[in-house]
Amino acid sequence: MFFKPGSKVKFSSYFWEEKFTIIIFYKTVKNENSLKILTVSDVVEPTLGQPSGKRQFEGIDLIISCGDLPPEYLSSLIDSIKAPLYYVGGNHDIRYKDKPPQGGLNLHGRLIPFEGINILGLEGSHWYNGGPYQYTEVQMRSIIRRLGPKLWWRGGIDVVVTHAPPRHIHDAEDHCHRGFECYHRLIKKYQPHYFIHGHIHRTFDDPADRVTVVGKTKVVNTYGYNILEIENSRNAESIGEHSTPGR
Ligand SMILES: [Fe+2]
Repeated sequence: MFFKPGSKVKFSSYFWEEKFTIIIFYKTVKNENSLKILTVSDVVEPTLGQPSGKRQFEGIDLIISCGDLPPEYLSSLIDSIKAPLYYVGGNHDIRYKDKPPQGGLNLHGRLIPFEGINILGLEGSHWYNGGPYQYTEVQMRSIIRRLGPKLWWRGGIDVVVTHAPPRHIHDAEDHCHRGFECYHRLIKKYQPHYFIHGHIHRTFDDPADRVTVVGKTKVVNTYGYNILEIENSRNAESIGEHSTPGR
């Protein structure tokens, strides 16, 4: 018999006529001072949320989507993993306009505090054919500039969530997959612990290949899925270990 976290289980007794209900609580194995974040993008992972993979996803505090994923899939992750979802749209997420992921929070252009960390989201890709969720370098720079006062007031950024990567980091030379130059300025100025993106389809034999370190920032391609831990203190000098399931 399997019990879900927080599920109510009824026990009945042949000896006592009364029935009573208890709630099963999970004790998850993770650092009390850290947040465990599942990040996803670009491709549906059938194993996520399945009973066979349940143990791996115990204790997830937050799900972050970096885009190009069906809204139904993201909503199903909320139900199966039982964690809130923050997301940005990718260049293929045109359905989000009419049907956003139910129960999720759109991060685009917003700095959202979560359990002691500040998370900034920026949707979309570099402009290539005029479709939705596409931005020129000037447009994206303008979005970031308008956020300046809020970033200063809130004391900076811990995690940046984007669909596209920074220029020349994990990106490609075609217009669609070209990264944004202005993301470099964002990294240099605010030095977030993590800069998480999708959009660049790659498989990773070595989990370390997902990561490029820029100063104090780990730029991570989350294509598929990835799990990371971060200290949930705004004053933390360092972050928790980065762990990546192979794909
Ligand atoms: Fe994309």
